[in-house]
Amino acid sequence: MKQPDEFWWRHGVFYQIYPRSFQDSNGDGVGDLRGIIERLPYLVSLGIDAIWLSPIFPSPMADFGYDIADYTGIDPLFGTMADFDALIAAAHDGGLKLILDLVPNHTSDQHPWFLESRRSRDNPKRDWYIWRDPNAAGGPPNNWLSEFGGSAWQYDAATGQYYYHAFLAQQPDLNWRNPEVRHAIHEVMRFWLRKGVDGFRVDVIWHLIKDAEFRDNPPNPSFREGRPPHEQILPLRTTDQVEVHDAIAEMRRVIDEFPARVLIGEIYLPTERLVTYYGRELGGAHLPFNFALLSAPWNARAIEKIIHDYEAALPQGAWPNWVLGNHDRPRVASRVGQDQARVATMLLLTLRGTPTLYYGDEIGMHQVAIAPGQVRDPFEKNVPGIGVGRDGCRTPMQWDAGRFAGFSTSTPWLPLSDDFVHENVVNLQADARSILNLYKALIGLRSNLPELMIGSYVPVAAQGDLLIYRRQSEVDALVIALNLGDQPTSISSEAAALRGEILISTFLDRRGEKIKDTVDLRGNEGVIIGVLGAQPG
Ligand code: NOJ
Repeated sequence: MKQPDEFWWRHGVFYQIYPRSFQDSNGDGVGDLRGIIERLPYLVSLGIDAIWLSPIFPSPMADFGYDIADYTGIDPLFGTMADFDALIAAAHDGGLKLILDLVPNHTSDQHPWFLESRRSRDNPKRDWYIWRDPNAAGGPPNNWLSEFGGSAWQYDAATGQYYYHAFLAQQPDLNWRNPEVRHAIHEVMRFWLRKGVDGFRVDVIWHLIKDAEFRDNPPNPSFREGRPPHEQILPLRTTDQVEVHDAIAEMRRVIDEFPARVLIGEIYLPTERLVTYYGRELGGAHLPFNFALLSAPWNARAIEKIIHDYEAALPQGAWPNWVLGNHDRPRVASRVGQDQARVATMLLLTLRGTPTLYYGDEIGMHQVAIAPGQVRDPFEKNVPGIGVGRDGCRTPMQWDAGRFAGFSTSTPWLPLSDDFVHENVVNLQADARSILNLYKALIGLRSNLPELMIGSYVPVAAQGDLLIYRRQSEVDALVIALNLGDQPTSISSEAAALRGEILISTFLDRRGEKIKDTVDLRGNEGVIIGVLGAQPG
C-alpha cells in the first residue's frame, strides 16, 4: 500500500478557491460546495494537488465569510455539513488534499462568544475579546487604526467600554492572551482535522497578539496621500509581537497531533520578519505565505533580488513557497499584463518552493471593473475611490460561453468579466497554446521533474530584462530563462552553460528545439531548458 507522503505540501501545487465565485449549483448566483464537487474533475485535470477554500462557515458575510459566527458549521449559502463531507470524500478520492481557512484573530460580532462578551463587564466571556476603558477625554483608548478605515476601537454604550477590531467593527478581535480562547480555537482545529481536512491557511496569523500595554502606534513617516488611511501609523504594537510565536507553536502542536497535515500562515511582512514565522526549530507554520511577488515591480533585477533575499533568509530546513495572486490583491494578469502573465506563470511554477495558484489565473482572468453601484467589498465601501476594492479579483469563474459563463443559472453576485465568451475554460482547453494549457503543461513538468520539485535554486548572472536560474538535482539540471520585457533578446549558451534542449516555451511551440550557441527569446517569452551533461552544482 502507498504510504502517505508526510511532505506532500512540499511537493504539491496548491489552488485557492474563493467559494462564492467558483461554481453555483443551486442557481442563487453564489458559488457553493456542491458546485465545487461538480468541478473537481477540472481541478484533477489541471494537475494540482491541494485545494484551499476561503471561509465556508456560518457568517453574516460583512466581510464575505471572514466574519465567522460558528466555527464548526457550514453557511447555508454554501450548503450543509453533508455537502462538506461529500466534498472532502470526493476530493480525497480524486487525490486532492483539502485545506480550510481558519480565522482565529477575530469572530463575527454575531458569534455567541461575542454576544456573551458584550453582555456585561463581568460576563465570563468578557476577557475573550479586547475591551478597554475610554481615554481620559472619553475617546478611543489609543490611536490604533482599523485596516478597513477609521479607529480600530468601537464604543459599546451598554457597558461603557471600547472593543478592538483590526478589521470591521463587525469583526471583533479575540484576546489571544486568554488561554480559554486558545483552547477553544484548538478544539475548532481538532473538529475539522478529525473530519480529515489536510490543514489550514490561518488568516492574519501575525495579528494574533497585540501589545500588552496598549501603547500607541508610531506615525508612519513614509505615508503618502492616496494610500489607505491605516497606513498613517506603523503597526508596531498591533502586529508581529514576539509572543505570537508561542501561540503559533501551540497551533502547530495541534496540527502535529494528526499525521501529514499542514499549517499555512497569512503574513504580510518584509522577508526578514516573515521567515521568523517558521518558528523556533521550525515549530511554527510549515509555510508562512510568501507574498513578495504580489507587490514586486515587474522587472528582472527586482525579482532576482526578491528571490535571492528570500532564499538567503530561509532558516535551515525551512521549505519555501510562492504566491502570485489571491482574493485580496489585483489579478496577476492585470498587474503584469496578459503577455507577461505567461512568464509569471513559468516563474511561479519553476521557483523552488510550493506554489499557490489563485482560481481563474490559469485562464488569464483579469481585474474586472466594478461600477460604484456594484461594489460589495466592505474595504472599498469604507475607503472608496483609491483602488483598494477587492471585488475585481473575486468575479465568477469563466467556465464556458453560456449565459452566465457556466458559473450559475442566474445573475452572479459579482459581475462577470465581459471577455468571458472567449476567455473561458471550454475555449482555452480547446486551444492547444492557451494559457490554460501552459499551466497544465508546467504543472505536469513540475510533478514529473525532481529538479523542479525539490532541486536547488542557482541564480545565473543576466542583464536587462532577462531572469535566468538553474534548478538542479544531484544528476540533472534545468535552466529557466525568462524574458520580462517585450523585446526579443538572446543569450549566449556558453555564458549561461545551457546547451541542451527546450522542454517548454511559454508560447508552447518550441518543445524539443536543440540549443547550440545561443538561445533566442521572443519578447515576453520564457523557456525551460533541459541541460546536457549537467554537473552537480
Ligand atoms: C485577510 C483575508 O484574506 C481578507 O480577505 C480579510 O478581509 C481579512 N483577513 C480579515 O479577515
